[in-house]
Amino acid sequence: MSGNNVILITGAGGFLGSLLARALQTDPQTPNVRLILVDVIEPKAPSGSNAVTIKANLTNPEEVDAIFQTEYGVPDTVYCLHGIMSRGSEDNFDFGVKVNIDSVRTVLDAARKYGAKAGHVIKFIFTSSLAVYGGPLPDVIEPNTIATPQGAYGMGKLIDEIFINEYTRRGFVDGRILRLPTIVVRAGAPSAAASSFISGIIREPLQGLPSTCPIGTSPSSPDLDLPLWVASPETTIANFLHARRIPADAFFPHTRVVCLPGFTTTVREEIAALAAVAGPEAAALISFGDDETNRRVVSSWPARFDNTYALALGFDVDEGGMVPIVRRFREQLRAGVV
Ligand SMILES: NC(=O)c1ccc[n+]([C@@H]2O[C@H](COP(=O)([O-])OP(=O)(O)OC[C@H]3O[C@@H](n4cnc5c(N)ncnc54)[C@H](O)[C@@H]3O)[C@@H](O)[C@H]2O)c1
Repeated sequence: MSGNNVILITGAGGFLGSLLARALQTDPQTPNVRLILVDVIEPKAPSGSNAVTIKANLTNPEEVDAIFQTEYGVPDTVYCLHGIMSRGSEDNFDFGVKVNIDSVRTVLDAARKYGAKAGHVIKFIFTSSLAVYGGPLPDVIEPNTIATPQGAYGMGKLIDEIFINEYTRRGFVDGRILRLPTIVVRAGAPSAAASSFISGIIREPLQGLPSTCPIGTSPSSPDLDLPLWVASPETTIANFLHARRIPADAFFPHTRVVCLPGFTTTVREEIAALAAVAGPEAAALISFGDDETNRRVVSSWPARFDNTYALALGFDVDEGGMVPIVRRFREQLRAGVV
């Protein structure tokens, strides 16, 4: 692996950022890694690491400058993960634009500037989303399907992607843009994502807690057949590590966008997997309270993708559907690691 293994993660206090920091810290293919962990809430360093942790609001350009000037020097890679999630940016448009577009651009410009000063091109790995798609879509999303987002979150991600692609074409950064499926099961508290319930209806009942599904009005509602494009956190984090290792010339010449592999499930299949792993009493903890905005946003997202290009690049995919994912999450809960 070329580079100095100095890796900056923005959004390192969040769900995927903290998992990524832990994975990089123990990755045998990233020896002597030095992590710079940044978040607007104080990020935690993985145990046993000597990570630099920085509490910074990345909407402030001076604070962005500072994260590239730590004692670890200029990073070889930036994982740009910070952001306001889908429902949050839909409900608060101006704030979403400020964080999801303006601050990403400030970090991108800093990567360009400090990479040039240090004499290397920084790998800029950006987490985009299937929310860039919306409107009339083909049954299966292909790499050349045009993205026409139907929400503020997807719009912001698409704008970021266009900048990162152009900065890559110009040699300012070495961009890698990962359009993520919905990640399930997400540990911790519910998020401000329209997709939050997709994890909530598994996570809360597995802990004996009630959970509200904003799709449908009862367990027999046809709305529960809503298809969802999902991936597990474990596979996704392995794919984040892999994204840094792919030779630049392996990507399509015209874009650095890759739809990370996922699989199609439905709300009904999720509930069935919960019942299969934890019994019908767990599934009975789900109540139904249809939320029009939530349903509209989630229903606008595509649920079937062609994984061929991503698999050819060496990215991984979950096998076996929802049951192994629910089972693994229950084991993690029992072990107290989530
Ligand atoms: N989890 C998913 O299902 C999913 C799906 C598609 C895309 N993504 C993308 O992956 C990335 C990580 O997602 P996540 O689930 O870990 O989200 P998360 O909400 O858990 O983490 C995001 C982090 O960004 C931080 N942040 C927000 N504003 C900031 C600011 N101004 N300055 C510094 N930090 C700020 C937050 O404090 C939070 O810790 C995001 O870019 C998200 O859009 C996630």
